[in-house]
Amino acid sequence: MLSQEQNDRLTRVGPGTPCGELMRRYWIPIRPYAQLLENPVQKVRILGEDLVLYKDNSGNLGLIGDRCLHRNVDLQYGIPDDCGLRCPYHGWLFNETGKCVERPMEGAPQAEIKQKLKGYPVRELGGLVFAYMGPLPAPDLPRWDLFVWPNAMRQIGITELDCNWLQCQENTGDPAHSAWAHGYLFEYAISRQKGFDHHSADQLHTLHQRKKVGVGIKELYAEQSEYGFRKGIRYSKALGADEDKDQEHSAVVFPFYTQTGRSGAPRSEYQIRVPIDDTHTYHICYQCYAAPEGVEVPKQDVVPYYVPPQYDAEGNAILDYVLAQDAIVWVAQGPIADRTTELLGRTDIPIVVLRRQLDEQITRVEQGLAPMNTFEKSPDMLHPTAGKPDSFHKHAFRKFYHKGFANDDADRYGPLIEEVKDLHRRIEEFQLKAQAGTGEARAPEHA
Ligand code: FES
Ligand SMILES: [Fe+2]
Repeated sequence: MLSQEQNDRLTRVGPGTPCGELMRRYWIPIRPYAQLLENPVQKVRILGEDLVLYKDNSGNLGLIGDRCLHRNVDLQYGIPDDCGLRCPYHGWLFNETGKCVERPMEGAPQAEIKQKLKGYPVRELGGLVFAYMGPLPAPDLPRWDLFVWPNAMRQIGITELDCNWLQCQENTGDPAHSAWAHGYLFEYAISRQKGFDHHSADQLHTLHQRKKVGVGIKELYAEQSEYGFRKGIRYSKALGADEDKDQEHSAVVFPFYTQTGRSGAPRSEYQIRVPIDDTHTYHICYQCYAAPEGVEVPKQDVVPYYVPPQYDAEGNAILDYVLAQDAIVWVAQGPIADRTTELLGRTDIPIVVLRRQLDEQITRVEQGLAPMNTFEKSPDMLHPTAGKPDSFHKHAFRKFYHKGFANDDADRYGPLIEEVKDLHRRIEEFQLKAQAGTGEARAPEHA
């Protein structure tokens, strides 16, 4: 349980708030670059600030305040110029720093105007546009590995959620939810679908593997790591688990990333919880499908994006894929989860670690120090899952999208899904051939 003051400290992201000041020390992914190819001017709301993202005719990106200095026209209707964005009303031209550099009908000479719009640095990496909204100089843009991994293809799923970012991120510190939200809820959801036949739900279906997560739990563990924290479940055979073991879960990357699947796996993903404002989150599923050397991955000119649907034609929540199950429970905690009335249990140990880490990093910023995961010079590739024990790689069903498992994830709505299934099929063939060549025993398919 938190006090109201603590809850506000960890959740609110507007300018001048403790968490908002922390967030402004990071490069924040704000849009898929592919959206700018469809429409070079995009309205963006991030950390409670209303802005306009544009790509001008020279290909430069800008992120500036959304209201023209002249008479407040919303610049989402602006016209990209050779170097900047023009207001659609009287053509005032703004550059990427937010400075007005031309007022076409005001005659000459023109005195320089002192007022400026906001103007934030913007960069592209791995098909995402990142913005930096904090004090200058900006740190280097971190090259987290899925953004730059070789021999891989990618797609980006975007979901806007009516809730505060922290309840999405706390989900990452909650390995136990998998048994219910992705097991029993999944089963219940598909049992209500028309024409459902219980016998047709293959025992290898994702939901059955998820239900096992809840069997034989001894305790949860969590500890801070180089880039965030690691956590998992300790199982006991005496309590009903298959064996005594520690099962590591997805990596948590500070401040708002989580990674499912090992980097370089046939399917891995960053989920990124970008605060739009205090009560809305821009949720990005950055999906990466990598192949071993020897398996060719189709080349991509542009990383495509998609919007997985949350509701069906009758307005009912769609609950038969993993992200939708997460999303419904995050939103169901309320616009900002009331942590003054919660009752934490033994399975919430990682959540406590997550909150403590967030509070510590907010304090660092308050003390004038750089928070974690800000880099003067990023390495060529940063590996959030480096050094993780093997148990992290257990979700093997995500390398078998060609065998039906693609249906259980948001990926099924993505424009790449058929190519991904084909890639998974070719990776499996390649690995079987390699195993046959070495005489190695074939691993069980759905281990
Ligand atoms: S309102 Fe923008 S130029 Fe006049
Ligand atoms: Fe989940």
